Amino acid sequence: MSLKKHFPFFANNPDLIYLDSAATTQKPKSVIEAMSVFYSCNNVNVHRGSYQAAKNTTAQYEQARSAVANFIGAGSPSNIVWTKGTTDSINLVAQSWAMHHLMPGDGIVVLASEHHANFVPWQQLAMQKQLKLHIIELTSTGQIDLCQYQEVLLTKPKLVAVQHVSNALGSIYPVAKMVELANEVGATTLVDGAQAVAHLPIDVSVLNCDFYAFSGHKLYGPTGIGVLYIAERKKAEMHPVQFGGEMITQVSRDKTSFRPIPALLETGTPNIAGVIGLKAALDFVNSELYQTQHSHIDDLYKALLNQLKSIDNITLYGDLTANVGVVSFTLNDESVADVGMLLDQQQIAVRCGHHCAMPLMQALGTDGTIRVSLAVYNELNDVNQFVKALKNTIELLDI
Ligand code: ALA
Repeated sequence: MSLKKHFPFFANNPDLIYLDSAATTQKPKSVIEAMSVFYSCNNVNVHRGSYQAAKNTTAQYEQARSAVANFIGAGSPSNIVWTKGTTDSINLVAQSWAMHHLMPGDGIVVLASEHHANFVPWQQLAMQKQLKLHIIELTSTGQIDLCQYQEVLLTKPKLVAVQHVSNALGSIYPVAKMVELANEVGATTLVDGAQAVAHLPIDVSVLNCDFYAFSGHKLYGPTGIGVLYIAERKKAEMHPVQFGGEMITQVSRDKTSFRPIPALLETGTPNIAGVIGLKAALDFVNSELYQTQHSHIDDLYKALLNQLKSIDNITLYGDLTANVGVVSFTLNDESVADVGMLLDQQQIAVRCGHHCAMPLMQALGTDGTIRVSLAVYNELNDVNQFVKALKNTIELLDI
């Protein structure tokens, strides 16, 4: 059954083959409508007004926080902080927690395949505070080098910050095991779930991580809204980063006292429409329609992989088995920008380049890859059209 009819984007772009959902997913009608209804009917500020409309919108806004908590198995809605997205969530951990708790010589562990959002903040903090950044390499089959990881843990790093799924490769990493091992040496743990939430069930209470970050826009929700989960045990260790309205309990001319998490980290008028859109996206993802269609991504992925494997001169990257439905490849030494341009001329939307993971590209020995990423609305026809266009491109470029 096609889910495309639930996504207005496809009716408005009938000829485009959209295979760039790792960059952002399309939005179901229900998400667009929820945001439109908010602005058309319910647009009042939250947590401020004493009139009924303000109370209603505040209740809706806080219900969304509860829905997110349920979605990821957080113990309480108060473990959920709204942010602008994954990048904002990770930078918030860097400034609110790491800045105050890491000392010169302390270690931070990341993976070679991190998105820049979970690499650059730690690299910069390491430079600022004389910390040691440990980078765990990938094996030849695209998995984490767990031996190296365990060796690094012997040095007792203070923070392990790892991605759940590689945005550039789609590889699923064993984060439960990694968090368990990190907990054994007393390291604080952060999981970047940006690429995982739309594909894998997340239960932070089982995962037992300290922080979990993700964005709405990769989960069929709006851009500009994200989540930072903060474990109960970490709440008291967080420091405010921005100061202003709503995060205070009392302000006098001389001093200010602050509210607890999540308000402590949510100053100013929030992205109310984004929160409401994200709640609608969760309703979509929790629906039977979505749940029954989701395994179909794996079927498409296998069909795509099989067709690509039969092409000469192709190099496929990452873990091709534990994968959320992303294929990343190069064609000999051909410029991926040229391939992307020719695919674009055939109405194929894929991402070509470094995918905000330059250290990974360096490790793979390439400037970039061609990345095809699938979502629940894709169909076998999309895969077939893509492969046909790729074969045309190979012919045109004489690869
Ligand atoms: N992080 C997004 C991607 O992987 C933008 O393309």
